[in-house]
Amino acid sequence: MLRGVYPGSFDPVTLGHLDIIRRSYNIVDELIVGVLNNNAKIPLFSVQERVKMLKEATKELPGIKIVPFEGLLIEFVRQMDAQLVIRGLRAITDFEYELQMSQTNHKLEPSVETIFLTTNVEYSYLSSSTVKEIAAFGGDTSQFVPEAVTLAFNQKKKESNKDE
Ligand code: PNS
Repeated sequence: MLRGVYPGSFDPVTLGHLDIIRRSYNIVDELIVGVLNNNAKIPLFSVQERVKMLKEATKELPGIKIVPFEGLLIEFVRQMDAQLVIRGLRAITDFEYELQMSQTNHKLEPSVETIFLTTNVEYSYLSSSTVKEIAAFGGDTSQFVPEAVTLAFNQKKKESNKDE
């Protein structure tokens, strides 16, 4: 049985991530989406919020697991008893970092392979950071993210308006 981990920050999940999730789901027998809880970075959405949005956005995929993790990815992959790490590649600018990460992970655990799926051209320009910027300036994010994320952005806006 082939178990794969698709790791990321997902702050927040975009339609580009979702496309990679759906395609990975069709490749492996069991897919685990690993959501990084990075104490060194302050995310817009808490890890609980990110997990919740991912669960909502992937509810049509039976058996998929959305699991938060901390620390080294390769440790998480070992804990999950997975053999594969899946990453999306949008453009050549992603390549250097991804190559370094996959080679480091392979050195740390030679039995785990990383495979890359090229992002659908429809989403190759898309990133969580640009989506957050659009939302921060009051733009409509609905064509870039799943509905659960647009609702979460709206909720955050309401809360911050209340605080002002
Ligand atoms: O969505 P992102 O931010 O591009 O995902 C990056 C992620 C979470 C895959 C990467 O930062 C990661 O694996 N972090 C865990 C720490 C780790 O294992 N670092 C060493 C790998 S070289």
